[in-house]
Amino acid sequence: MSFSYSFSHAICRRPGASATHGLRAVDTGTPDIDLFIQHHDDYVLALKSTGAHVTELAADETFPDGCFVEDAALCLPELAIVMRPGTSSRIGEAALMKPELEKHYQCVAEITRGHIEGGDILVTDREILIGSSDRTDQEGVENLREIVAPYGYMIRMVQTPPGVLHFKTDCSLLDEHTILSTRRLADSGCFEGYNVIHVADGEEACANAIRFNDLVIMPAGFPETRSVLTHAGFSIREVGNSEAARLDGGMSCLSLRFSPPAT
Ligand code: GLY
Repeated sequence: MSFSYSFSHAICRRPGASATHGLRAVDTGTPDIDLFIQHHDDYVLALKSTGAHVTELAADETFPDGCFVEDAALCLPELAIVMRPGTSSRIGEAALMKPELEKHYQCVAEITRGHIEGGDILVTDREILIGSSDRTDQEGVENLREIVAPYGYMIRMVQTPPGVLHFKTDCSLLDEHTILSTRRLADSGCFEGYNVIHVADGEEACANAIRFNDLVIMPAGFPETRSVLTHAGFSIREVGNSEAARLDGGMSCLSLRFSPPAT
């Protein structure tokens, strides 16, 4: 299996009570923390069911969005890179993640210029796609490019659709060649050369899924897209996401997925 979806490890952080103050573009109501934790437990179980080792960090009430750990780092087979989130309430999450990454990686680099969040980064076998957004700017991308170029990684900068939080809010990697995407993103042409499966009309909120080993983990409640993916041969696991979605969070945001280098 490809390094871009085959993982031996994941790191998650439980949602805390302060998640009621998490950032959101539109207020659709305060997240129900008990239900959020129940969904999070189901998510961790889904990751573990593939045989992966999952570190569950305790909630840190200082950071209302801290359960969205993906934004704090990028994990590649050779090294991890601590990100530099593009919003003031989240910038400290990156430093909090560094010691966790150092438990698994000898090489942990850091973004020191500009801003970049993991939610804007899609790693495929052939390239690293990064969507510029309100949270990710050119300087952050150039800093990341300098860090990963010696390892042979190619970065291609694209555009996150206006009004969309992160690039991966609208797309997911399904396998080496296949991407699940909203039409509004795929129509930009950024996935030329890949097979694209469009989410069903009206089900745009399920574009943020994850391929994790043999499973595609997707938010519950999107039957048409689920059916398309099942017919395409993917093994689907649905997890409730109603509360994370109130904070513009989804399946990818809730974990850092990686295989530590052999020492
Ligand atoms: N609530 C997730 C974020 O805005 O970063």
